[in-house]
Amino acid sequence: MHKDIKKILIDQDVLQRRIKELGQEISKDYKGKDLLVICVLKGAVLFMADLVQNIDISLEMDFMAVSSYGDATQSSGVVRIIKDLDASIENKDLLIVEDIVDSGLTLSYLMELLKARGVKSLKVCSLLEKPENLVSKVNIDYVGFQVPDEFVVGYGLDYAQKYRNLPYIGVLKEEVYK
Ligand code: IMP
Ligand code: MG
Repeated sequence: MHKDIKKILIDQDVLQRRIKELGQEISKDYKGKDLLVICVLKGAVLFMADLVQNIDISLEMDFMAVSSYGDATQSSGVVRIIKDLDASIENKDLLIVEDIVDSGLTLSYLMELLKARGVKSLKVCSLLEKPENLVSKVNIDYVGFQVPDEFVVGYGLDYAQKYRNLPYIGVLKEEVYK
């Protein structure tokens, strides 16, 4: 285990098993549709890569980057587009792939923005969900795991751009960010 990690919350095997299930569910739900999977960079990149390998219907991928946190550990409520999608999403069946929904601010902003571009349908798949979202109530169609209200890193999730390469989801030691 990495020295800055307090404990492992979700190990590699458990992650991969759940991602396989999500892929199967998505394959079934999107059969015959024009699926476009949108990866929200950078946090969702590892999840997205594993997820699409478990989806067995035809799909396209695109990438988008938004900023919400800077290097702090709490949502600022300010969301900025850093990289927009490459292609038009008009009449597409969109699936947004996120790493984590905490307050839900990032996601609700993103959903409004994409809806306004004339999509046929819009759903969300998030690897993790924190309890705070129960307050803002953003609807997540596919959730990998519920996690407690602690700062987690690994498997794409960062603190100050680090720890994304850890193959598991772990809780960061408080002394690292306090
Ligand atoms: P929200 O706007 O509060 O829902 O925050 C969503 C974004 O904040 C996610 O896409 C992550 O980039 C980041 N985030 C929220 N909680 C955590 C965490 O525990 N670890 C790492 N990043 C997080
Ligand atoms: Mg992030």
